[in-house]
Amino acid sequence: MSDNAIDASIVDEVLQKFADPETGRNIKQMDQIHDLSIEGSCVRVALGLTTYSAPLWEETRQQLEERLQSKLGSTAKIEVKVVEHARPAPSIGTIGLTAKSVIAVGSGKGGVGKSTVAASIACGLKNAGCKVGLMDADVYGPSIPHLLGVDERPEAIDKRLQPIVADGIRVMSMGFLVPPGEAIVWRGPMLHGAITQFLRDTDWGDLDYLIIDMPPGTGDIALTLSQLLPLTGAVVVCTPQEVALLDAVKAIAMFRKVNIPLLGMVENMSYFLCPDNGKRYDIFGSGGARRAAEELEVPFLGEVPIHIAIRERGDAGNTAGNFDDQESAPYFDRICYSLAKNIASRKAADPPMPSLSVL
Ligand SMILES: Nc1ncnc2c1ncn2[C@@H]1O[C@H](COP(=O)(O)OP(=O)(O)O)[C@@H](O)[C@H]1O
Ligand SMILES: [Mg+2]
Repeated sequence: MSDNAIDASIVDEVLQKFADPETGRNIKQMDQIHDLSIEGSCVRVALGLTTYSAPLWEETRQQLEERLQSKLGSTAKIEVKVVEHARPAPSIGTIGLTAKSVIAVGSGKGGVGKSTVAASIACGLKNAGCKVGLMDADVYGPSIPHLLGVDERPEAIDKRLQPIVADGIRVMSMGFLVPPGEAIVWRGPMLHGAITQFLRDTDWGDLDYLIIDMPPGTGDIALTLSQLLPLTGAVVVCTPQEVALLDAVKAIAMFRKVNIPLLGMVENMSYFLCPDNGKRYDIFGSGGARRAAEELEVPFLGEVPIHIAIRERGDAGNTAGNFDDQESAPYFDRICYSLAKNIASRKAADPPMPSLSVL
């Protein structure tokens, strides 16, 4: 053995202590080392990660590489590559949904960009490589089909509604049930029934994330959902304006009341960067949501400035296009990354009990 030869037991120890971002449990125990070779001073690891953790693949790869490097010393040559690790979503709740995380996107009031943010979270996670569904539960203003350019109606096969696939996202909207231009007055029990049926009768398939665009303000649907499913948590969207923040505070209180964890706050319409003179205009004030998030002990996921192209793309059904434009993409990417990261840190802090299949 040469002096630089790698000690396999050190490699093993690092792997034993390295957490999978999806489960928070160690990658060795979870069978996520797909390949490992140690030759002289060279270690090669094929690390299996799930599509659920796709936004964190590169960072997790680097972390493992750095961890090995620091334990093995600078003479070691380390190569970690990520390969896909299959782990089907479990069936959750009482309605036969197979999803790993269900995330509700809410706001205190309408018009703050809740649907834009919900659609963008769905797009960003999908772009990273996750399997994503987007359910538009905003009965008062179902705008997801408009924002994603969906104009077909879902088909039913064997009495199950087939979501419309738009930009690689499986989409369902309460708007499909209501003829455009018609108003429905939703009473509590009817709303509860419609949402339950809608979730249960949709053929969502196997999902990493189901993003739900919630109606603004009201706690009815949050309560219904919390009874049907274990929600991973909620994201609250607001603008920096004082009055909007008060509404956001109420929305946060409402989620807390029904025991839905708060995954974060997004500040939309944070400022306007004038294309003519490059000056920043704080149309709705500045930094309010970040401060409110701190006071309420809710993670701040990021901000999105007012950008005319965001509105134009929304109206053109091309919300996904915000990710191709360097003026808007970094803001939405940041929000998706922070969200995935927050969920992973919660798992790391509180990993679930081992399931029988891995014991
Ligand atoms: N950051 C932004 N910059 C410009 N326009 C935006 C932005 N966020 C949302 N919009 C536009 O504002 C309008 C309301 O947004 P929407 O997402 O439908 O809000 P909500 O769901 O809260 O009612 C839409 O026309 C949308 O395209
Ligand atoms: Mg909306």
